[in-house]
Amino acid sequence: MAHTSTARTGTGGTLRGGSRLRGLSKAYGSGDAAVTALDGVDLDLDAGELVVVLGPSGSGKTTLLNVLGGIEPADSGSVNVAGVDLTGRRPRRLAAFRRDHIGFVFQFFNLVPTLTARENVEVMVELTGRGERGEVAGLLESVGLGDRLDNFPAQLSGGQQQRVAIARALATDPDLLLADEPTGALDVATGKSVLRLLQRTNREGRGVLMVTHNAAIARIAHRVVTMRDGRVESVERNAVPADVAGVDW
Ligand SMILES: Nc1ncnc2c1ncn2[C@@H]1O[C@H](COP(=O)(O)OP(=O)(O)OP(=O)(O)O)[C@@H](O)[C@H]1O
Ligand SMILES: [Mg+2]
Repeated sequence: MAHTSTARTGTGGTLRGGSRLRGLSKAYGSGDAAVTALDGVDLDLDAGELVVVLGPSGSGKTTLLNVLGGIEPADSGSVNVAGVDLTGRRPRRLAAFRRDHIGFVFQFFNLVPTLTARENVEVMVELTGRGERGEVAGLLESVGLGDRLDNFPAQLSGGQQQRVAIARALATDPDLLLADEPTGALDVATGKSVLRLLQRTNREGRGVLMVTHNAAIARIAHRVVTMRDGRVESVERNAVPADVAGVDW
């Protein structure tokens, strides 16, 4: 079925992170002050897909990401992410789901300023009990930061900081990587190096869902979801997703 977390590819890799959302609604506040953030979202994401979410400010993109990632529960509707049914789960049990299945990457990196690159990744391994401390240096090497292990965030460029954040997100080997405007604070060349990493992560079989305001990036997606007023306005598929190298903005 489309929403199961794992499926076999022809090339032998395991595809992960398939999800199925039905009738998802969420409001913030109550009474006259209530703001509808999600208003009946139905969405299927196949395992192993790279998904780009577009839509105007306030259309519910971050809220969707937070519900998918178990940061906050929906008010109603059903949520199945990476083969796990989250429907009605309370925050504490959502935390366990997050730890085991999800990696997050944010627009402004959210690194701990008093920890080095290596320590920022190690702390995730320690907090979650997932991944191996001994693999952290190799992970940072794989994102091109082998010579920056002991630098603090303030000693790294924006793109390097975002690559530390991606290494941190990957340290727990998540099924689904969720990224909210991961290139929003970066220049084009640096943004492309971050996108290349996200595409590589996806090609390893993980689901990747990325929110962006940059419609040009949609070309690298398998599936492009456009949100408006808390609803899914359209879902389009790229038969042949572009390689990051061929995308410019
Ligand atoms: N914690 C919150 N408390 C109250 N309202 C909120 C909260 N978070 C989001 N909202 C409201 O919910 C709606 C959807 O917000 P959301 O952050 O999901 O939009 P977005 O599409 O990510 O926008 P942007 O592109 O500006 O990041 C908005 O009207 C927003 O003001
Ligand atoms: Mg947002």
